Amino acid sequence: MRSGKSVLLIIGGGVAAYKALLLIRLLKTAGIGVRVVLTRAGAEFVTPLSIGALSGEKVFTDLFDLTDEAEMGHIQLSRAADLVVVAPATADLMAKMSAGLAGDLATTLLLATDKDVLIAPAMNVRMWEHAATQANLATLRARGVAVVGPDEGDMACGEYGPGRMAEPEAIFAAIQEKLEESRIDLRGPGAGAEAADLRGKRIVVTSGPTHEPIDPVRYIANRSSGKQGQAVASALAARGAEVVLISGPVRLDAPPGVERRDVETARDMLETTLAALPADALVCAAAVADYRVADAADQKLKKADGAGRSLNLIENPDILATVSALPEGERPRLVVGFAAETQDVIAYASAKRERKRCDWIVANDVSQGVFGGDENRVTVIDADGAEDWPRMGKDAVAVKLAERIARALT
Ligand code: C5P
Repeated sequence: MRSGKSVLLIIGGGVAAYKALLLIRLLKTAGIGVRVVLTRAGAEFVTPLSIGALSGEKVFTDLFDLTDEAEMGHIQLSRAADLVVVAPATADLMAKMSAGLAGDLATTLLLATDKDVLIAPAMNVRMWEHAATQANLATLRARGVAVVGPDEGDMACGEYGPGRMAEPEAIFAAIQEKLEESRIDLRGPGAGAEAADLRGKRIVVTSGPTHEPIDPVRYIANRSSGKQGQAVASALAARGAEVVLISGPVRLDAPPGVERRDVETARDMLETTLAALPADALVCAAAVADYRVADAADQKLKKADGAGRSLNLIENPDILATVSALPEGERPRLVVGFAAETQDVIAYASAKRERKRCDWIVANDVSQGVFGGDENRVTVIDADGAEDWPRMGKDAVAVKLAERIARALT
């Protein structure tokens, strides 16, 4: 199966380079051609031989510079593909791109290309957070470079934080989105309807935790990272849907192509969700706090020596149940909830589906490090029964769910 599309993949030097091999496989399976340029530093982590075996194409490195110049010029190489992808994009590569340096094959191609560029940054957390890198990132973004990731998590260097390269599935989804955009540009509106089957559909997604104030400086929260909800929003947008993402406080940038409305509390989230309707579908991926403090203090609470303190908690409104109970015409045609359980997942989740009167429940077992992690193992429960999905990246879950939603709505 050939899509007729191709990408030029530049592999920079970093531990994450091995993930580029998985990306090549995903692209080839989807019928997307891949031509690879391996930087000198990248060649310290993966070999031209393994890349060539996967891509089925000659791999370009500085070592082959002269012969390649005879066969295919730099300019031609930089423009033959539909999209240029840099993964991993190291701090060094980003700095060179930002400054317009062209000291080697990869940077020369990046400067010479007339195609869109997508980067997947990967570096140590301090390097990522350094003002220099953030300034380079802002420059690249301002020039229209698309960015996927980085993710937050344990790093090969032993530190924790943002800097891990996005998973291959997420980069793949971002590539598909970019290729879809370029196809629309080339063929005009309405083209490519088979992949953009949610065009014209409006979908609201809730995501992330809520923060319920105790006093002006303290709040009740939970460990939700918002990754799964944002991935769902991105995957729906990639299929052409108009997506409103209603997000509690998270450390993630808003995904491209999605309108994100930021909220704090469950009550804000409910109000903002109702205001975003009507919609064709609602996906409630948020980990909404079940309770809030009844009498949150206006001033910072002081420690009363020796004495304990108790919080008076009252129940929050249930967004999923509220929207599911809206009358026909106001209720989205499809309402999807998530259920994070630690035991008897299917039984609890099925009961939840009936109690909240939503159409589907995406149930996941959170007893094994799903919160904040990059992987998920879910069971989708609807009126007809339960469908078990294998363990996969949260992005892959999102892509599969978006596909299922598209089938239900079209
Ligand atoms: O917390 P619980 O297991 O009940 O959450 C199940 C589903 O209900 C999730 O989809 C969550 O987003 C939604 N929910 C909600 N409002 C609440 C609590 C949960 O929309 N107050």
